[in-house]
Amino acid sequence: MKKLVQLNVNGDTHELAVNPDETLLGVLRNHLDLIGPKRGCDSGGCGCCTVHVDGKAVYSCMMYAVSAQDKNVVTIEGLGQNNDQGNGNGRELDPLQQAFIDAGAVQCGYCTCGVIMAAKELLDTVKNPDEDEIRHAIAGNLCRCTGYQKIVDAIKLAAAAV
Ligand code: FES
Ligand code: FES
Repeated sequence: MKKLVQLNVNGDTHELAVNPDETLLGVLRNHLDLIGPKRGCDSGGCGCCTVHVDGKAVYSCMMYAVSAQDKNVVTIEGLGQNNDQGNGNGRELDPLQQAFIDAGAVQCGYCTCGVIMAAKELLDTVKNPDEDEIRHAIAGNLCRCTGYQKIVDAIKLAAAAV
């Protein structure tokens, strides 16, 4: 039987009827059209579904949507300024997003939203992270394309800009 859940996502409140076993990832993508978080392994191994829940980076494939009740969820679509529509339209990029572009850290892009959300938690808590801290912060995010160095460069660039 479906359960009614109230989710606060990117500053907007949504009341949704969800199955008790629906993941937060599934609800974000399938009910709210927030497709930044990607479905990769669906088992906590790749990090491409990473979002923030109450400021912490979490794998949204590993969390039931009902567990997000009364918590603040932020997806990649919620980063940046002027995000008044909650869907990424009409906003300025977050410095991390801009740095990923500037450093050439995006190739196929499948991992990118998750990596940025993991890096965002780091930059929200550590002012000038060193390379070890950056690599540790994104250790749970797999990228098949970049070899990671440009991702690390991008995070350094963003850290210098904030
Ligand atoms: S899809 Fe969630 S960790 Fe891989
Ligand atoms: S850019 Fe392709 S998986 Fe990371």
